[in-house]
Amino acid sequence: MALPDSFIQELKARSDIADVISGYVNLKRTGRNMVGLCPFHGEKTPSFHVNVENAYFHCFGCGAGGDVITFIRRIENLDYIDAVKLLAQRAGLSMPADGVDDKTARVRARIFEANREAARFYHHMLYRPQGAPALAYLRGRGLKETTIKHFGLGYAPPGRFALTNFMRQKGFRDDELVAANLAFQGRGGGGVDRFVDRVMFPIIDLRGNVIAFGGRLMGDGKPKYLNTSDTLVFRKSSNLFALNFAKNGGEKRMILVEGYMDVIALHQAGFTNAVATLGTSLTVDHARLLARYTDEVVVCYDADAAGQKAADRAIPMLRDAGLLVRVLAVPGSKDPDEYIRSFGDQGPARFKQLLDATGNDVEYRLQKIKAACNMESSEGKIAYLSGAAGVLATLDSRMEQEVYAGRLSEEVGIQKTAVMQQVDKLVKKRDRSQKTKQFREIQQRVSGQKDTVNPQRAENLRAANAEEALIAYVINNQDMAKTIVSDLPPEGMVTDFNRRVYQTVTGRILEGRPVDLMDLSQEFSMEEMGRLTRILSAAPITGETWESAQEYMRVIRYEKEKITASDIQSAGLDDINQYLQKLKELKK
Ligand code: GTP
Ligand code: MN
Repeated sequence: MALPDSFIQELKARSDIADVISGYVNLKRTGRNMVGLCPFHGEKTPSFHVNVENAYFHCFGCGAGGDVITFIRRIENLDYIDAVKLLAQRAGLSMPADGVDDKTARVRARIFEANREAARFYHHMLYRPQGAPALAYLRGRGLKETTIKHFGLGYAPPGRFALTNFMRQKGFRDDELVAANLAFQGRGGGGVDRFVDRVMFPIIDLRGNVIAFGGRLMGDGKPKYLNTSDTLVFRKSSNLFALNFAKNGGEKRMILVEGYMDVIALHQAGFTNAVATLGTSLTVDHARLLARYTDEVVVCYDADAAGQKAADRAIPMLRDAGLLVRVLAVPGSKDPDEYIRSFGDQGPARFKQLLDATGNDVEYRLQKIKAACNMESSEGKIAYLSGAAGVLATLDSRMEQEVYAGRLSEEVGIQKTAVMQQVDKLVKKRDRSQKTKQFREIQQRVSGQKDTVNPQRAENLRAANAEEALIAYVINNQDMAKTIVSDLPPEGMVTDFNRRVYQTVTGRILEGRPVDLMDLSQEFSMEEMGRLTRILSAAPITGETWESAQEYMRVIRYEKEKITASDIQSAGLDDINQYLQKLKELKK
């Protein structure tokens, strides 16, 4: 299934790349480009460039790149066709009739339907006789009827085929249930229920689709919670429980908690801006997702050691995503759910008090350091100060550093400038080690380690560089394509990936079809698109002459002959002389 060129042209005309990306990334104009912090890897100095004129983005830090469709695929975690649909919708274009159906899109649609049907089934079961213990369990945990309905909670009955049998009646095939991770394949080949005798929490995405479930055992046993594994429609590392409600909560900040029940208890208590990760610790993806819907996050993890450790990991990730972070420590070694319930009717008001008294994470970290130091002794004070300077050094804002340095100086009774000197020293040290790290990463990339797009590149560096320069030249000088291809047909390319690019690009030009990146993104993967933009961004904008193109072709031919010669040599043939002669001629 391919989308017609005319449709892609129309979509291209209506989807300004700077416009689309600005919806996700804060872009600033610098000369011909727009620049911002890369949404695909954590960074503090912007290396994410949007080339408006040629309609592509490229990150010099992580190598992500491509056209506007590739951007949407990456950031929204969609496949090609769904990304096109999203852009089409945004641009007010309807999809061409035969372009909609593609196999994965169909499977995805079926998974959505299956999940919705399963959620209905589980919910319904809660009110059947066999669901009575589950309903009692939820009520026993303080949930009101409206809350159970609001979250669509349910019950997966015992027996290993309750859902599977029901779904078969509804016309779902077992392989569809397995693809949705609602069932697994039993020994006989048929489906067997994945969730058995558990209280069920449906997970709903921002468009209202049921994408996964969490299921809790009511008694002891392991695992306490069972979650849907990643499927075609669900990635736990980039979804948050209740974000669908929280994003409409109209609150400027969000509350990040650990568990489903914490979220539900908070929503019931009126804090409809609470979200949780789905049985995993917070990832960079989660942090970025939050940053798209809020400016401030209150981290409210369990008061136990594991919870505090998780908070310590989460805070820098949230900060790096540009969020203002506050930390709420629930007193009395409780989680938020238990805390609220322990105060009965007063629960919501008590939690509100905690929330209002919450300091930001700098205060929290300073307090933790201070608690570990004996402030009566001068050794203790020095330990506190140097620990505190370490915290301040991690702040990006000079003003913030100054404010806290001021407070510290009053607290400990030493001059503010002395505190700032220590902070500056640590900042310099950190910058240095960060630069070294970045340098190493770049070196690794350049030396071609882990090059999955073009694995032959590292071994044929000279050829690959010439190939890439030639590809950029052809794209920028399309009227020369015919001459170039007759001089150097695709077979003459050394590395397979570049040959494929060269063949696709020149093939399209000769057929009179467009070759903007957006036209190519149907034929190349996201990683490959990143390589294409690297090839284009590496090429000089002007000054590429026909002479240089000829030089590239000469290099490619020379390198190709060299390989052919060594092949023959290793095959044990002895007419190498002839080849050496040819090489000499080429070299001239
Ligand atoms: P309750 O005991 O129901 O109040 O749950 P909780 O949220 O207080 O439990 P806990 O702090 O133990 O776990 C927090 C979150 O971690 C849960 O909501 C789950 O998302 C996840 N989790 C807990 N136990 C398991 C488990 O055994 N397996 C997996 N995959 N996730 C779990
Ligand atoms: Mn709990």
